[in-house]
Amino acid sequence: MMLPGRLLLAGLLRSASTASSAPRMPTNMGCWDRFTWSSCYFHSTIDNTSSKAGLTAKKQLDPLALIKDEVSEVTDRLRSMVVAEVPELTSAAGYFFRAGAEGKRTCPTVLLLMASAISMEMTDGLENRPRARHRRVAEITEMIHIASLIHDDVLDDADTRRGMDSLNFTVGKKLAVLAGDFLLFRAFSAAVSLDNTEVLSLLATAVNNLVTGELMQMSITPAQRCSMDYYLQKTYYKTAALISNSCKAIAVLAGQTTEVQALAYQYGRHLGIAYQLIDDILDFTGTSASLGKASLSDIHQGIVTAPILFAIEEFPELHEIVEKGFDDPSNVEMVRIALKYLSKSQGIERTRLLAAEHAKLAADAIDGLPESEDQVILDSRQALKDLTQKFMRRTK
Ligand code: FPP
Ligand code: MG
Repeated sequence: MMLPGRLLLAGLLRSASTASSAPRMPTNMGCWDRFTWSSCYFHSTIDNTSSKAGLTAKKQLDPLALIKDEVSEVTDRLRSMVVAEVPELTSAAGYFFRAGAEGKRTCPTVLLLMASAISMEMTDGLENRPRARHRRVAEITEMIHIASLIHDDVLDDADTRRGMDSLNFTVGKKLAVLAGDFLLFRAFSAAVSLDNTEVLSLLATAVNNLVTGELMQMSITPAQRCSMDYYLQKTYYKTAALISNSCKAIAVLAGQTTEVQALAYQYGRHLGIAYQLIDDILDFTGTSASLGKASLSDIHQGIVTAPILFAIEEFPELHEIVEKGFDDPSNVEMVRIALKYLSKSQGIERTRLLAAEHAKLAADAIDGLPESEDQVILDSRQALKDLTQKFMRRTK
């Protein structure tokens, strides 16, 4: 049923370029998981910007390498944090923390880099209490992230996640829901131990935003489906709110000024939105093989994203079709028509431009941080800025 649309689009839209030398990506990785997996390549990317002598090439920073060992520590701690009273619950809650199942841990990576980027003291000895508390935020955020994916798979009735059976597929919906609940409990127990009500409130807000975003998508009205404002708000809640609030929590725990807290928050917000906009483009331009999941899956699930919303601005006749929605199986013809309008429009290009604006705003937030001459701080800031560009370049 999805074939006609995909064939049509393959012929009409510019296809995404794929790195032929890239190893195969596991199938069905979640959005943030897919990013960090692909970012593993970038450490070897050479920026051929010439030096004064025109001879040396600058090797790009590998954001993962900077804090790789610390992210591993976070993963180890997570395994011990999800132990429950009942063995069944321990194994269900630990399902995505097992070796090989833990994904690439984008949230801890971003948060630990942010901690380094805004830190005043870089000595990470045993006595460095702020750093230990930052690691705790990384652990909490990862638990909330995994809980949201587990619950999302129950809601979507998904069979797979991260290229393996989903938890609901493996243990059933009931235990999966309880495992997600338990992870939230563990996350908030750890948050309480930080003894900081502002941080607790930021994390609670992030969970509220995740739930709200999911509901905004589930219970959308025809008019909301055609609204770019509604779409961007939902996107912020679902994809950017957790990382932006957690970035701010890092700044709060660092004892940073409200200005730095706001910059940390803005970085996470714009990074998350840029990420999702590129994800929306790839759903139209990528192949199933490159994406690790079915292409055109959003529109076939009735989810209208930025490229189509921009196309409506150019072709108002598309408005009526989108308002009706695409989730009814009898609407395959409507999907085909919408894709035809999209191919004639600047929808993909305009979405890319919007993503680039958000990527730039994220980088601007880092540039707005108080000056520093500490090399670790500067490298961490550069790595955070590099992430924004990697998000823009990704093809999967
Ligand atoms: C992925 O969406 C899902 C999310 C980003 C968040 C889902 C949030 C909830 C289920 C609310 C409950 C939250 C908590 C903290 C328990 P997707 O289906 O668009 O993407 P996918 O391809 O990764 O499944
Ligand atoms: Mg889903």
